[in-house]
Amino acid sequence: MKQAVRGTLLSFKKDPFLYPIEECLYHEADGIVVMENGIITKVGPAPQILADEDTDLRVNHHKDSFILPGFIDCHVHYPQTEIIGAYGEQLIDWLNKYTFVAEQKYSDFDYAFAAAEIFLEETLAAGTTTASVFCTVDPSSVEAFFMASERFGMRNIAGKVLMDRHAPDGLLDTAKSGYDQSKALIEKWHGRGRSLYSLTPRFAPTSTREQMEATGALWSEFPGTYLQTHISENLKEIEWVKELYPEADNYLDVYDRFHQVGERAIFGHGIHLEEREVDRLHEAGASIAHCPTSNLFLGSGLFDLKGMMTREKAVRVGLATDLGGGTSFSQFRTMGEAYKIAQLRHQSISAFEMLYLATRGAARALYLDDTVGSLEAGFEADIAVVDLKATPLLEYRMEAAESVHDQLFAAMILAPDALVSTTYVGGQLVMERDSYTHHAQFHHPKNISQA
Ligand code: GUN
Ligand code: ZN
Repeated sequence: MKQAVRGTLLSFKKDPFLYPIEECLYHEADGIVVMENGIITKVGPAPQILADEDTDLRVNHHKDSFILPGFIDCHVHYPQTEIIGAYGEQLIDWLNKYTFVAEQKYSDFDYAFAAAEIFLEETLAAGTTTASVFCTVDPSSVEAFFMASERFGMRNIAGKVLMDRHAPDGLLDTAKSGYDQSKALIEKWHGRGRSLYSLTPRFAPTSTREQMEATGALWSEFPGTYLQTHISENLKEIEWVKELYPEADNYLDVYDRFHQVGERAIFGHGIHLEEREVDRLHEAGASIAHCPTSNLFLGSGLFDLKGMMTREKAVRVGLATDLGGGTSFSQFRTMGEAYKIAQLRHQSISAFEMLYLATRGAARALYLDDTVGSLEAGFEADIAVVDLKATPLLEYRMEAAESVHDQLFAAMILAPDALVSTTYVGGQLVMERDSYTHHAQFHHPKNISQA
């Protein structure tokens, strides 16, 4: 079915960290995006496009709204939705106390499916249409995720966590079972509809050398698949990696030794990397997922975003929520927190630069920048509508805004839950804030047994 959305269009043609904003930003004050069979077919000024179209074209006119490419979240854990905002710990203790407890529940397919639905509904309600997602070590958690993702027709990347040491027994696989299960999941899901598969070794401390070896080998057997993991998030974690892998030159070198550094490898965090590690990421074409709300919440550190984006050997960086270490599904709120982290480093990052990192820049980090992340003919029709009158305060603030940048920046700093009014996936309206509710019948086991 053919339909169109009308409003103020914003999208990027180039990287605003590297080029003047006039060369990068596409801004159409009264624009239209026409979508057919899941693809954007026309983008441009409303009067001009409407003059060329049949008069019966269905147009959703979103007044006082930005029409943006659907946001892209480069690193997130769906099974951690139920532990967002868990009190009082930093990375390693937080993993043991909360994360590993929650993740053990996902060997139950029905439980995992309901949680995946809730996660995806929250994701879409925040205007995010593509994510790179960690499941748990149990293949059922991956089946559940991809089935739920297919229902919404989303372009998502996901994978089974590989972890054969330093976690509770119920969350461990082995080098062989992890390899076999991942391979079967790749064969079933990678490239089916819009689903893409990512090899997902949790991080170096929770895999043996044997598992790291098998994972690198499997990744090279299936070109086009992804690999996602964590790196240099927390200082104690880095010390632990040094103890476990004394032969490696640095943290990235652990992954490198096992052939896990290359294009389509997405490393979460990368806060405390050495220069030579960053150079190597650049040379290999690997990416960093910057996770500001998580880095603040877990007290991990202040990522050098501007440095990564503007150094001679710049690295592909995309914005990420890292939920449940992260504290919000909203990429607008995440942009606001990234801005504050940069402020603490005495750097200022514009709202346009931040929006780039949640759309086209994130797509580039995921090697999907010819597919999603921009409003351009031929791209997949995933769209987020940001309502500049979403709350009375936002409406009041917008009256005083003097430019598009000012509007975008204030929206990013205030970022109310109601900011995104409508989300389109594959050219279809999939989420409207006004009628938003969870559809999954989700109960924690303790509630079920009490019932
Ligand atoms: N490092 C290893 N596992 C995790 C995780 O689940 N969340 C975060 N933030 N860091 C990790
Ligand atoms: Zn993470």
